[in-house]
Amino acid sequence: MALSEESKDVLQAQVELWNQSFSFMKSVALAVALDLRIADTIRHHGGAATLPQILSGIGINPCKVAGLRRLMRALTVAGTFAIQPPETSSGGHDEPLYKLTTVSCLLTNDGDGESTASCLFPMWNHVLNPFHDSVLSMGLAAWFRHEEPGKCPYALMRGATVWEMCESSDALNASINNAMAADSRFLMRIVVEECGGIFRGIDSLVDVAGGVGGAAAAIAAAFPYLKCSVLDLPHVVAKAPSVSNVQFVAGDMFESIPPANAIFLKYVLHDWGDDKCIKLLKNCKQAIPSRDAGGKVIIIDMVVGYRPSDVKLLETQVLCDLDIMKIGGVEREEHEWKKIFLAAGFKDYNIMPLGLRSLIELYP
Ligand SMILES: C[S@@+](CC[C@H](N)C(=O)[O-])C[C@H]1O[C@@H](n2cnc3c(N)ncnc32)[C@H](O)[C@@H]1O
Repeated sequence: MALSEESKDVLQAQVELWNQSFSFMKSVALAVALDLRIADTIRHHGGAATLPQILSGIGINPCKVAGLRRLMRALTVAGTFAIQPPETSSGGHDEPLYKLTTVSCLLTNDGDGESTASCLFPMWNHVLNPFHDSVLSMGLAAWFRHEEPGKCPYALMRGATVWEMCESSDALNASINNAMAADSRFLMRIVVEECGGIFRGIDSLVDVAGGVGGAAAAIAAAFPYLKCSVLDLPHVVAKAPSVSNVQFVAGDMFESIPPANAIFLKYVLHDWGDDKCIKLLKNCKQAIPSRDAGGKVIIIDMVVGYRPSDVKLLETQVLCDLDIMKIGGVEREEHEWKKIFLAAGFKDYNIMPLGLRSLIELYP
């Protein structure tokens, strides 16, 4: 399946707008790095340090190592720090080394503020101050210092997860549902027109966590013989418009999923950590038949760095990843997807890039 030039252009334009929308996360990442004194910690290690060395240097609980890796990924893509891959074959270090660059040298603070490297520290402190306590950062620096592993920055700050908040706030619920339905109208037109083959041979499909049915409406309109359902939480389903040929089911995807030939998961798994994803994918596997009988899961989500030569795309994906970290989600690289697919008992998958995101067909 190859996309037309027109679709590639419009998907690239969407990447550009995501990039411009999430550019503020570059400032947030820098503000968190300054707050945690990451540049100073690396300097104390002679200018190069592993993640565990940085964590212990700043006095942060090792349970935050994955979060720190993602922060450092965004900061290395931005050029603030550099990364040196492990050198196990030559008997060298078996962890990536994060190094100071000329840029991050200017973030250090030697105490007296006299050296060329450190004299600018008060300047960055002042310029980045608005990001420290802003809702834009959602308390990321405080979250890194927090000892409890289970809570995401959003839940730490607001006292509830974003999905719990949607239940009590009609405005937030409507805002997320409308945004997601708009995204589905945009993307699903391309998917059904250019990748429609993925729905061939399927006679029933459940769009799990399908919101108010934006994606299911596009699938049902293009493939009217398909028995199409949407599963979402009761307060979301209650607001869904009636959609021709689509049945809405109120429920919890972590409890059970109605049986179907195929499960569709658009922009859902990225909202959750690995354990929840494995639980959800196991439920999906139970709901579908074997691969020989046509069973599969169709996923639309990001595969970070799948086309590493596209620097703008990579930058956008790692900024999106930092943003989703605030609500406890993860934008995954291919090896991270593979790990959760195998842990949930799936055997095979293939990936097709769709601009910012990819279409993944997953087989039991
Ligand atoms: C980012 S939205 C994606 C919506 C839709 N798939 C789309 O792309 O338009 C995530 C959805 O997950 C739903 N959700 C969250 N927790 C859920 C649960 N436990 N069971 C079912 N749906 C859930 C939310 O209500 C929301 O509609």
